[in-house]
Amino acid sequence: MRAIDPFDHEELGRHLKLQQRAAWSLDDCVDWSVGVDPSKMLLPLDSEFIAFPGASKEQSLALSQLMGLIVNSTISEMEDCLPRLKKFAWDDVLNAYPVGPELRELGEQFFAEEAKHASAFKKYLGLFCDGAGIDFDDLNLLLPKSFGTHFQSAIINNAKSGGRAFWWVVSNVEEVSINIYHGIYRSRDTIDPLYFNLHRRHLEEESRHANYAYLMISLMDQRRSGIRGWWHRKADFTWAQLVAMPWVVGELHKFFKVKDLRHRDPFFEVLASCIPLYEAMPFQDRVRRMFVAAPYVSWLLNPNHRSMHRDFVMRDKAWVLPFPEVH
Ligand SMILES: [Fe+2]
Ligand SMILES: [Fe+2]
Repeated sequence: MRAIDPFDHEELGRHLKLQQRAAWSLDDCVDWSVGVDPSKMLLPLDSEFIAFPGASKEQSLALSQLMGLIVNSTISEMEDCLPRLKKFAWDDVLNAYPVGPELRELGEQFFAEEAKHASAFKKYLGLFCDGAGIDFDDLNLLLPKSFGTHFQSAIINNAKSGGRAFWWVVSNVEEVSINIYHGIYRSRDTIDPLYFNLHRRHLEEESRHANYAYLMISLMDQRRSGIRGWWHRKADFTWAQLVAMPWVVGELHKFFKVKDLRHRDPFFEVLASCIPLYEAMPFQDRVRRMFVAAPYVSWLLNPNHRSMHRDFVMRDKAWVLPFPEVH
């Protein structure tokens, strides 16, 4: 991804035209009529099946499908969060530090694309329930929600005080969602075709607007001075990690609600049968899986998994917690 200067009006204008021209529409971005094939995986798993080593074929299919839906919901919950933060993290910043109209128009395009992505992931969730014959309300109990959480209010308060933690969270989720697609692409023959195509279309727009969060961070870097500006520049990346972490871990723990749902559907029964595999793992291994090795989860929690993030954080000389190295 190429960094753009927030004051390079010509380049911003070109980028805006490209995004507008190539934008897709929710109704025809994919062929929704094919529905979901419940015999297919949604996400490739690693050799330890995220955190359930020794899972059977049936268990790994259910884990792959639930993980795929958790990933979709995490992305769409973050995307749904954006309008609630738009005033403090975006509008107020652009009003305080006026730039050309292109940055605002790019922002409107960015927010519109994210709202559309959230709708697309919700639509997929409904189709998955139809295809697998699962009750939507039951499945929804296992999926992440961000509305009204401590995480959301911490990010809003940071933005109100002039911080940029919001944009660090956005750039985190965007980089992870691009990496997720690369994993899906490598295993595309085994992945539900609708899931694959939806993530392919998501990737197209994510890669096109991936620089927007960094544009906002650069604008704040260039304009915010004084002790408060220095503090936010140094601390916000770590703050974004610190408030996101308990949210991610807490939402993942909703998995254990499958024990109460096991009699509602064979899908939940199979998932509940995976719990002993997780419980058999020593505590240290569970932590290692979460922060170093488990795909998707550790990618979100450990910044060492994210190269774009690493480059910008180094450039900003922001403080970073000493996360374990990944290979
Ligand atoms: Fe998106
Ligand atoms: Fe995005």
